[in-house]
Amino acid sequence: MDDRFNTAAGWALFAGIVGLGASIASGMYFQAHEPHEVEAGGYPIADADGGGDAEAAAVDLGTILASADVALGEQQAVARCGNCHTFNQGGANGTGPNLYGVMGLPIGKHAAGFKYSADLSGKGGNWDFESMNAWLLAPKQFVPGTTMGFAGLKDDAARASIILYLNSLGSNMPLPAPKAAEAPAAEGDAAAAEGEAAPAEGAEAAPAEGAEAAAPAASE
Ligand code: HEC
Repeated sequence: MDDRFNTAAGWALFAGIVGLGASIASGMYFQAHEPHEVEAGGYPIADADGGGDAEAAAVDLGTILASADVALGEQQAVARCGNCHTFNQGGANGTGPNLYGVMGLPIGKHAAGFKYSADLSGKGGNWDFESMNAWLLAPKQFVPGTTMGFAGLKDDAARASIILYLNSLGSNMPLPAPKAAEAPAAEGDAAAAEGEAAPAEGAEAAPAEGAEAAAPAASE
């Protein structure tokens, strides 16, 4: 009888533990999921708003233009902008103005017969590398009231190449030089490039060891 009682009590205890475990586990499951959904909803918005500024500040225009490519720019411009813009000399205005030779010209004025927004035509200044970069990165930050229905292009290589292509269309303004402060970064790039060919760690370790080994030998 005692044995049986112990067995029954044992099973009851066991069932309790299993039940407790299950409720803890399900609690963890739901807790784990709720915050994730909130984060998933919040992050893309934060990125869309804040990302452009951070990138614009981080990136040196001269540097990204130095590695830009006109052919890539033409291909990107046709694909991303061609629905609204023509690029050929004397090309028709569409949803947006013709863009031939726009680099160096006054902002929001050059295309005859195109109805610019008051905000763009009242912006002032000419299209140079800085203003074009800011415009294409985030049109509505550069000119809040613009009617250009284009969200902005964060891809530095694609954006720089499009700017280079626009500049090649009869403007040919001299490119801004990569910033002087970029000199250490340029060395870093070169080192990184070498590192791609030969593993960076190995490349660093080998001369260091060699130098240590050589130093005592030379002094003795
Ligand atoms: C959905 C249509 C649309 C797309 C896509 C678009 N644009 Fe525009 N673009 C416009 C409109 C409309 C304007 C005139 C905006 C205004 O007046 O505020 C404009 C204006 C411009 C201007 C100013 C021209 C001037 O005469 O000052 C430039 C430069 C420009 N766009 C470049 C581009 C580039 C480069 C792309 C692709 C990366 C692009 N746009 C994509 C519609 C578009």
